[in-house]
Amino acid sequence: MRRKLFAANWKMNLTPAEGRTLIAALRADLDRDAAALARDRDVLVAPPFLAIPAAAQALAGSAVALGAQNMYFEPKGAFTGEVSAEMLRFFGVSYVIVGHSERRHIFKEDDETVGRRAAAVATARMTPILCVGETATERDAGRTLEVVLRQLEIGLSQFPARDAANVVIAYEPVWAIGTGRTATPEQAQTIHGALREALNERLGHDTGAAIRILYGGSVTADNVDTLMAKPDIDGALVGGASLKADSFARIVRAKSA
Ligand code: 13P
Repeated sequence: MRRKLFAANWKMNLTPAEGRTLIAALRADLDRDAAALARDRDVLVAPPFLAIPAAAQALAGSAVALGAQNMYFEPKGAFTGEVSAEMLRFFGVSYVIVGHSERRHIFKEDDETVGRRAAAVATARMTPILCVGETATERDAGRTLEVVLRQLEIGLSQFPARDAANVVIAYEPVWAIGTGRTATPEQAQTIHGALREALNERLGHDTGAAIRILYGGSVTADNVDTLMAKPDIDGALVGGASLKADSFARIVRAKSA
C-alpha cells in the first residue's frame, strides 16, 4: 500500500512571518486527528527559499515535512541565483520539487537539466518530486502521452539506480494549473496509469508499484476526494488551495480509496 502524500507548493507567496502563521494554523488543525492521518498519509509544505528557515522552526516536532520548490544540481560554485542541496539539507528539507511546469515554461528549464536536478536531490538523500505535464496545445494535438512519458524518461535518466524507489512523480497538466479547470478523475487516472506502466517497465514492478504519483492542477477541498478515489492517484500537489490552512487541512483529510 502506497502512503498518500499531500504537498503544499506555496510558489512565490508568503513572507517568513506569514508562512509561520499558516504553519501554526495548519498544525493546530491537523493535530486534531494526527494519529489517524499519520496511519496512511504524509504531508509536506514547500515554501519559497527565504521562508524555509522560519518554516523549519515552525514545523519543529511536527509530522509535516519540509520541502523546497527547486534546487541546482551542482554542489557549489559560480551559479548566481541558485541554491544547493547542502543549503536545503541544513534546514531539514527532505523533499524537493523539480521540473515544475512554471520552471520549465517561464524559466526555460529543460528535460535534461531537470533530470540532473532530480538525480542530485536523490544523491543528497532527499526525495525529488519530479513534475510532468502537457500544455493545452499539446493535449489538443493528441500529444499528451508522448510529452509526459518523455519528461518522465529523461527526468529519470540520470537517476541513481539504488535510489530508484525514492522518487515521487507529480502529473500536473499545465492547462489545469491555477485555472480552476481540474482534470477529471478519469483524465488524470489515464495518465497516472500510463506513468505507472512506464515506471514498471523501467524499474520493475515492485519499484513501480511503490512510487507515488501525485496529481496537481486546481486541486481543492471540493474535488480532492473524487481524484483520490482513483487507483493510481496517490496524493496531490496543491498550489492556490494550500495558502489557507483550513482548505489545505481539508485536502489532507481526503477520503482514502
Ligand atoms: P494550483 O493548485 O494553484 O492549480 O497549482 C498547482 C501547482 O502547480 C502545484 O504545484
